[in-house]
Amino acid sequence: MRTHVGIIGAGPAGLVLAHLLQRAGIESVVLESQTRPYIEERVRAGVLEQGTVDLLNELGLGERMMRQGLMHYGVELRFGGRGHRIDFADLTGGKGVMIYAQHEVIKDLVAARLAAGGEILFEAKDVSVGGFEGERPVIRFTQNGEPMELHCDFIAGCDGFHGVCRGAIPDGVLKAYEREYPFGWLGILAEAPPASHELIYANHERGFALMSMRSPKISRLYLQCEPDEDLNKWPDARIWEEMQKRFATMDGFSLTEGPVIQKGVTGMRSFVVEPMQFGRLFLAGDSAHIVPPTGAKGLNLAVADVRVLASGLKEFYASGKRDLLNKYSEICLRRVWKVQRFSWWMTSLLHKFGADSAFDRRRQLAELDYVTSSRAAMTTLAENYVGLPLE
Ligand code: FAD
Ligand code: PHB
Repeated sequence: MRTHVGIIGAGPAGLVLAHLLQRAGIESVVLESQTRPYIEERVRAGVLEQGTVDLLNELGLGERMMRQGLMHYGVELRFGGRGHRIDFADLTGGKGVMIYAQHEVIKDLVAARLAAGGEILFEAKDVSVGGFEGERPVIRFTQNGEPMELHCDFIAGCDGFHGVCRGAIPDGVLKAYEREYPFGWLGILAEAPPASHELIYANHERGFALMSMRSPKISRLYLQCEPDEDLNKWPDARIWEEMQKRFATMDGFSLTEGPVIQKGVTGMRSFVVEPMQFGRLFLAGDSAHIVPPTGAKGLNLAVADVRVLASGLKEFYASGKRDLLNKYSEICLRRVWKVQRFSWWMTSLLHKFGADSAFDRRRQLAELDYVTSSRAAMTTLAENYVGLPLE
């Protein structure tokens, strides 16, 4: 088999890249190790930046999102038993975010890609990459037990944090920057109408909590927990009891409870490799960087990377020039580090750190007070949350 660009991974990065290339008349094949139902049901992120929303619409992929997604123009920060709204529209000139589940985005991208005759090879096993140091990259894999080879001009490593592409780059080329946090998030989906129209990020002395949603009938809630928290210790009643404590306000707020339909624990880390490219292999999305979910940035950052990559590939196929491709890593990393900073800052602002001194706790509350009372500070939060402009 032969194509222009071999894309490994049918996550947001790989699928958006395939669509951007298709629009530019560049062929690609996507290889995915999982089955289609698996990637279409996997519960993950839920917040799309304004720029991600605009791009999906521009690509003709936003029809269901615009019908079923919930556009939000603010969030609440809750601490000391009180809520404080950050008004995105007012602070950013009318921008907002879309609440629409990542797996719904995946369904839309897969359906449109297959309808346009694009190739996505599901259940591709034993994937390995080679030849990218020279001019002839090749992706080897097996499908239904048959060994296969996909020859291409470039490989896009969109295979997430646990993929094979990052590890295929020779030792000594990449430098990794990493921070692990001493906590995780216990997340649930519940058949319960969200108790507020907008997301609530709560800083509580018992730990962080987040109320998000998937629809007017389904809540998505998270609790700060141990990084290796044992879910067996969290029957539904205990989860609700803890949530109610962390969201409580002076004026008697209470969450609407309902059946829990999904439960999981997510670890938290910040991670970046530099550079994001070696020869004809380009890393994009979680294969190159991870952010803690507090800023709701993982999916959006993956999409921002592949926009840069698609522009570089477009220039190459139109003119043979590699100016933009050669700058891929440099351009992406400027945004990656700003988003890392924001995600780290939101995480530090809102979570309970085990070893916090009384001094640190007071400082954190002072920062929350400042962020919710200074227009300059609120603007900083708002413009990062709705998404920084693309270069
Ligand atoms: P992925 O979505 O990970 O896609 C990579 C794809 O490559 C996967 O489909 C995988 O099956 C496939 N793959 C892997 N290895 C191979 C291989 N060897 N061969 C072929 N295919 C392969 N972000 C937020 O903003 N908010 C959240 O609440 C949030 N929650 C999350 C919860 C979990 C459990 C996880 C794991 C992530 C969460 N994220 C969240 C992060 C966000 O989902 C990711 O940043 C986003 O999915 C990145 O997209 P991607 O395309 O780079 O990678
Ligand atoms: C979600 O809805 O899953 C969500 C929302 C905001 C975040 C993280 C996750 O910061």
